[in-house]
Amino acid sequence: MREHGMDRRQFVSATLGAAAALTLPGRLLAVPRAPLPGRDLPDSYPPIVPRFPHLLHGGDWNPDQWLHVPGVLEEDFRLMDKAGCNTFSVGIFAWSTLEPEEGRFELAWLDAVMDGLAARGYYAFLATPSGAKPRWMSGKYPEVRRVDREGRREPHGSRHNHCFTSPVYREKVHIINNRLAERYAGHAALAGWHISNEYSGTCFCDLCLAAFRRWLRARYGSLETLNRTWWTAFWSQAFQSWDQIDPRGAPLDGLQLDWDRFTTHQTVDFMKAELAPLRRATPGLPVTTNMMWSFFGLDYWRFAEASDRISWDAYPQLHGPDSWRAATALSFNHDAFRSMKGGLPFILMESTPSNTNWQPNPSLKKPGQHRQEMLLAIGHGADATMYFQWRKGQGATEKFHGAVVDHEGSDRTRVFEEVAAHGALLRKLDPVVGTTVRPEVAVVHDREVWWALARSAGPRRRGSWSDSFDKEYTEACVDHYRPFWKLGVPVDVIESLSPFERYRLVVVPMLFLIKPGVAERLRAFVQQGGTLVLTYLSGIVNEANLVLRGGWPGAGLREMAGVWAEEIDSLYPDPPQRIVPALGNSLELTGEFEVEDYCDRLRLEGARVLATYKTDFYSGTPCLTVNRFGSGQVYYLATRPANDAFHDGFARGLVRELKLARCLDVDLPEGVVVQKRSGGGRTFLFLHNLRHEPRAVELGALRLRDVADGSVLTGTTTLPAFASRVLERA
Ligand code: GLA
Ligand code: ZN
Repeated sequence: MREHGMDRRQFVSATLGAAAALTLPGRLLAVPRAPLPGRDLPDSYPPIVPRFPHLLHGGDWNPDQWLHVPGVLEEDFRLMDKAGCNTFSVGIFAWSTLEPEEGRFELAWLDAVMDGLAARGYYAFLATPSGAKPRWMSGKYPEVRRVDREGRREPHGSRHNHCFTSPVYREKVHIINNRLAERYAGHAALAGWHISNEYSGTCFCDLCLAAFRRWLRARYGSLETLNRTWWTAFWSQAFQSWDQIDPRGAPLDGLQLDWDRFTTHQTVDFMKAELAPLRRATPGLPVTTNMMWSFFGLDYWRFAEASDRISWDAYPQLHGPDSWRAATALSFNHDAFRSMKGGLPFILMESTPSNTNWQPNPSLKKPGQHRQEMLLAIGHGADATMYFQWRKGQGATEKFHGAVVDHEGSDRTRVFEEVAAHGALLRKLDPVVGTTVRPEVAVVHDREVWWALARSAGPRRRGSWSDSFDKEYTEACVDHYRPFWKLGVPVDVIESLSPFERYRLVVVPMLFLIKPGVAERLRAFVQQGGTLVLTYLSGIVNEANLVLRGGWPGAGLREMAGVWAEEIDSLYPDPPQRIVPALGNSLELTGEFEVEDYCDRLRLEGARVLATYKTDFYSGTPCLTVNRFGSGQVYYLATRPANDAFHDGFARGLVRELKLARCLDVDLPEGVVVQKRSGGGRTFLFLHNLRHEPRAVELGALRLRDVADGSVLTGTTTLPAFASRVLERA
């Protein structure tokens, strides 16, 4: 199943493939300005292809599908030049063309492709073909095929369906990767390696189950420890031997969580096996694997450790009426992928130049929207904008998927022209290469937290039983991210293991699971002057998914926050419950705010009250507090706001209180956003009107020069619908 979007239904099916006294309102706390973040990080980075100091532009190119059609290769090269493209991902699913029979390799066609690219000064991310295995292999070596939850060996099927443990599969991958590496090492066109494609999925074959048990033995040492950690006395679940362990069906959320961890471990292990021959033959070249939009199934941070560059595939749905809001989740993902390597520019490896064939309403991109989507990526830190795909294939399941070259075949299509215009623009953006973003704010979004929430039944359920597992974690993180993005305050999206001391404000929505060391590092961060935002459902379980004793938020967060979350209330739809800001609160919050889903009933243990609940028996008790701790402070938000209004006011208050820097000191209308990249003494602003209508921006005396056409923006500037400008202070 694909997880390009954060559709709730899709998420659920994926996850189940398995009284306090009121104190005076808080007054403004004098928060010392912590040292500027990012001091330990470089000012800028080298280009992705060091000998090519330009933004990369191109995409997935499948010449192997066109070998029987004379002239297509030459025509592709002619069109690439017209489109201003320079880099292609080649051979991603080409295994059956590269090795049509076991041990017989046919690489002449790839030689022609690579030589043709080199002759034009273009580059290739050469793919390892492991994303789709050849049919002869499935037939001769059944073990390469996955076994499903019901224990059935899958048929050959389609793609992304191989066993990550199978020694045969690993050996076959090694052989072909080695071939490719030895043949093309030193080739002028070789820019780096595109490892497999969108790793995903699990396999329940005997080999995988045995590997899981070995991994558990190394982790727990003894069955006694494992039984205790998984709470197996429950429903008589104790294991008497290792070979009884099977992740299917057991009501043990610790086991489920470990299976999630193992899936990442085993997939990364497979990736490392793929890499070995490449590293040997081409030690200086970067490797990357294309990741997916907020993908639940794998902990991408562990893949980042094995990669030299981050790349990801973005298929946002920016065509709907609320397109500017959809751009929030897209931007959240861009920021997450940039943050995985501490600000290193990333590769937008796939995007569609027009529409997909799989979204429910794949409307056409309106004029300007393509350029905007690409500049949004670059503004958030991409040094490459690439497409799926270069040329539409005539057959099979993606024949209607958008591509640069349409079935019509010419360079006169609207899509081609927009791509070519983007290519021409990129040539003027060379100085942006290697610059980066150094935010003062981080939002924590952690895969293990997400998994633990998803594997835990309760504390509430929305509809069906299966819905009790979906806590809308990622959505909550995006909700906390959105107001900063709207205000033009740069944000890193990090995991709970990331360093916190680079930031002045760390927002941690729903830190349900606390990994070892995290509470201690949060404590040190706050003690040294940092501001921390915690919310409901925080500090509930340890890394084994066992509930922490001693009161929530646990692991010492209770003392830091100065509150005890004694009970969690769960609300009916359209609850009357509201957040009521205290008069004169330091964040200057006014009005009332709707909430949904969760309300912690708090007891104050030293914190100051900034807002209280409106209704029910706990009306008047606190729902937003702040506690001074060391030289810093901890905010605790006890309920889930139902819409932007609270988040906007809360973030504005924090920005004001902490004097957080904005990209532009200008109040932008809703739907107009700005990003900033700096390095080498220059700063570039990316200003976008994400709306379907023109929007006026008041720049006052500010003078901003357009990097592309030299024009100067000042005073009241009207941005047409979907306009994006790259600007420098004049
Ligand atoms: C994914 C895959 C591509 C292609 C696109 C279509 O991202 O990696 O091979 O199938 O989706 O949107
Ligand atoms: Zn397997």
